[in-house]
Amino acid sequence: MSWTLDEIPWERFDRSRLDPEIIKLVKAASLVEFNGAAYAHHLCRIFDDDRDFQESARRWGVEETQHGTALAHWAELADPGFDFAAAFNRFQAGYRVDFDCDTSRRGSRSGEMIARCIVEVGTSSYYTALRDAVQEPVLKEICRHIAADEIRHYKLFYKNLMRCLERERIGFWRRMRVAAGRIAESEDDELAYAYYAANETVRSYDRDRYRRAYARRAYALCRKHHVAHGVRLIFQAVGLSPHGPLARIASRLIWPAMRYRAIQLAKAAA
Ligand SMILES: [Fe+2]
Ligand SMILES: [Fe+2]
Repeated sequence: MSWTLDEIPWERFDRSRLDPEIIKLVKAASLVEFNGAAYAHHLCRIFDDDRDFQESARRWGVEETQHGTALAHWAELADPGFDFAAAFNRFQAGYRVDFDCDTSRRGSRSGEMIARCIVEVGTSSYYTALRDAVQEPVLKEICRHIAADEIRHYKLFYKNLMRCLERERIGFWRRMRVAAGRIAESEDDELAYAYYAANETVRSYDRDRYRRAYARRAYALCRKHHVAHGVRLIFQAVGLSPHGPLARIASRLIWPAMRYRAIQLAKAAA
């Protein structure tokens, strides 16, 4: 563990610098992160003959859970009415994934590692963007710690991907397919349901409504350099040069597309 909750300067919490939109995102993130240990169990089953990786995966799960605890604690300070335990129960009751199977949904161990790399790219970019956007000093510090962990997690899974590829030799297009599939899933139920479970206690779940509610706030945080950084890491995970001309072209195309999406989402909510 590279940091503990005791190292967070909770006494510097500044209520005058809170943003209600950011509080909603943090509540949702706390639920998803806290679920990390369940996924670590799944990774241990997929890599059932690899003690070293199992140990790394368990440590990773503990770190993800700590991200959840830190964010939850901050959210409860920011909104004393927020009941993390109750929200997490709602999240678990409504969003179910079978983590107790021993084969990867990605078809191979390499595929599983590519999907994990993509998730860590997403989280490292997200917490970096959040760190840059927030004014409240304690949350800024939490995001700084989490973003550093997420980039280490990417490196952990990328290193293991390289080991898996020595045995599995899956081709470029299969790597691309897994990466594209996992990116598309980021607009699936998990984040939308977490946003719902964290912020809504009266209405029933409407997937499209909460998917847009979450995405609108998350997209608004993203800046050009966050996107460029994410593109480089994704390129590396699929076996393309992260600093080549193709990566620069991709960043130049993706950034305006993301801006457009952010504007559309904001307009639809207005
Ligand atoms: Fe995390
Ligand atoms: Fe992570």
